[in-house]
Amino acid sequence: MSALRVADVHINRAGLPVIRGVSLVVEPGSVSVLLGTNGSGKTTLLEGLSGITPIAGGAIELHCEAIHGLRPGLRARKGLAHVEQGRTVFRTLTTDENLRAASREADLAAAYALFPELERRKDVRAGLLSGGEQQMLVIARALLTRPKTIMIDEMSAGLAPVIVGRLMSAVRRLAEQGQAVLLVEQFAALALSIGDRAYVLRRGRLVYDGPCAALAQSHDLLHRLYLGDSSASQT
Ligand SMILES: Nc1ncnc2c1ncn2[C@@H]1O[C@H](COP(=O)(O)OP(=O)(O)OP(=O)(O)O)[C@@H](O)[C@H]1O
Ligand SMILES: [Mg+2]
Repeated sequence: MSALRVADVHINRAGLPVIRGVSLVVEPGSVSVLLGTNGSGKTTLLEGLSGITPIAGGAIELHCEAIHGLRPGLRARKGLAHVEQGRTVFRTLTTDENLRAASREADLAAAYALFPELERRKDVRAGLLSGGEQQMLVIARALLTRPKTIMIDEMSAGLAPVIVGRLMSAVRRLAEQGQAVLLVEQFAALALSIGDRAYVLRRGRLVYDGPCAALAQSHDLLHRLYLGDSSASQT
């Protein structure tokens, strides 16, 4: 059973089609990577899936249950977590308090096991954490709700390569633990190195749906997909 199944989703913005018939799946215990240049529609697609932006057509299923008719809060409660671009923490609360705000009953041990650096900073106000630590915190917070699928938008934006590597290995570890992950990235190489299935979006349409390894091994193919040679399309 797929954790997330998206079928022929269309999304308009300001009256113009931005997502044009996208279908994808995310399996439990795997990372699906969604790539694409600036403005190709990655964020819009995630917003449509979590319900922030309405979809104009298509279907969204979480563990075989249709969720596209539900409002965003209910989709989250059903198990679709969305880590939005821009890493928003409660700056005046400590790391620990940020996590407890996400879920009162939550056992924080799993979050701190995934990110031990957060435990060392648990009494520090989130506004004083580094960018990488703040990103770890928002991911940890989303995981406390025990989602069926977690979608993460551009977690590496503005971070140093060593931190990005650290975040990528944490995402890989999550998948090893059974989590379904949909990872949106602009930095293709690293994401492909930890991902299973890749999707490439160009002007609102998928131009690649296949194994990450095949894309990672062919710079040529990746280049053509990004630059818009339609002969590179796989589906
Ligand atoms: N609120 C909005 N109103 C109108 N058009 C929008 C809005 N948000 C995004 N768009 C347009 O939708 C298209 C897709 O934008 P989106 O932000 O989804 O792309 P992206 O792939 O996430 O880009 P980036 O890599 O820069 O984050 C762009 O052409 C953008 O101009
Ligand atoms: Mg975006």
